[in-house]
Amino acid sequence: MTGDDQAAPLSPPPDWVSAFTALPRSAFLPDLMWPHDMETKRNVAVSKSEDPGAWYAYAGSNSPIVTQWDDGAHEGVAPGKVFTSSSSMPSLVASMLADLDVRSGHRVLEVGSGTGWNAALLAHRVGAENVVTVELDAAVAESARAALARVGLPVRVVHGDGLLGYPRGAPYDRTVATCGLRAVPFAWVEQAAPGGVILVPWGTYFSFTEATARLVVAEDGRSASGPFTQPVNFMRVRSQRLLWPEHSAYVPAEGTDVAEKSSTSITEADFLASDTADIVSFAIGLRLRDCTHVADRKRDGVRPVWFYGLTDRSWAVVVFRDGRSEARVHQSGPRRLWAEVETAYRWWEKHGKPEFTRFGLTVAATGQRAWLDDPADSWPVG
Ligand SMILES: C[S@@+](CC[C@H](N)C(=O)[O-])C[C@H]1O[C@@H](n2cnc3c(N)ncnc32)[C@H](O)[C@@H]1O
Repeated sequence: MTGDDQAAPLSPPPDWVSAFTALPRSAFLPDLMWPHDMETKRNVAVSKSEDPGAWYAYAGSNSPIVTQWDDGAHEGVAPGKVFTSSSSMPSLVASMLADLDVRSGHRVLEVGSGTGWNAALLAHRVGAENVVTVELDAAVAESARAALARVGLPVRVVHGDGLLGYPRGAPYDRTVATCGLRAVPFAWVEQAAPGGVILVPWGTYFSFTEATARLVVAEDGRSASGPFTQPVNFMRVRSQRLLWPEHSAYVPAEGTDVAEKSSTSITEADFLASDTADIVSFAIGLRLRDCTHVADRKRDGVRPVWFYGLTDRSWAVVVFRDGRSEARVHQSGPRRLWAEVETAYRWWEKHGKPEFTRFGLTVAATGQRAWLDDPADSWPVG
């Protein structure tokens, strides 16, 4: 195992130390697992029976660990195509628990049981009888239930769609999703106690960038609202995964010359963040509906970035070239997607390039609204 981050000791918030000490992550992980090696940026297969030293080292590290591929259809040791259940980075688990602000006696709903570790930490804090965790995948739910029983914390593990919540256990003082959402179900607001907190990794279809929204439920129970607290990266709930647009269904075989041409002074450095905490695409996604994008690999100093409409066949491409101050743009279809992206980018720039925590989200029966600094000044999103 390599990488400082993986070796870094975990220091949970003071009120969580005893839970993390009593419940090592290793008690919740399967024999065969696929930790993410931070240095090589790949998932490696590690088996407890074959290499217990490496297995325990990864279990005790700060790496995310994949525990299921391809919704359970995967077999064998080699990694599958899409990771569909995992144990998140322990430092992220700890910081989300801190954001959740759990107090003794709280009733907590978790969506996405996964290994059961986070539910166990919650149960250690508030009592197993006060925690409900919902998991969509039957086999994952069963192994979480077994792990929780083994450590003597018989949390209610519900096999079902967490988007529906679990009305029988309501009202909840705290709701935490450990999978990414594009739309927060109003059912979670309805099942929350007034003043309750809903912590949810949230993003748009524009990019993979997400941030945790910390929503506080209004006293009248008709909405929940709050700022984003930190950028995160979660697997999405199954029903809100993006079906990736087929390039050939948008761009004709003759190529991009058939499309309307223009240029832009937005540069590659302006637009493409170099790390995963990509505030640019997060902010643009908040302003733009029904559009996604992908950056091609750079070849010979040229990098095309493609944009696809999700409700029609509009498309656009911006081609960044090293050494040029203007990038070429092609746009086609009912929408002018790059023009929309540029408007959103200029809006973000005009507002001083705000970071994640200046944005927020409000969820009501009528839908979701995003805001910058002031919840009263919001716009529909998602
Ligand atoms: C990152 S894992 C959860 C990690 C977990 N909290 C732990 O402590 O190990 C995300 C989980 O969400 C589950 N999931 C996806 N969509 C779901 C849904 N609609 N309802 C409930 N669970 C869902 C996945 O099957 C996966 O197990």
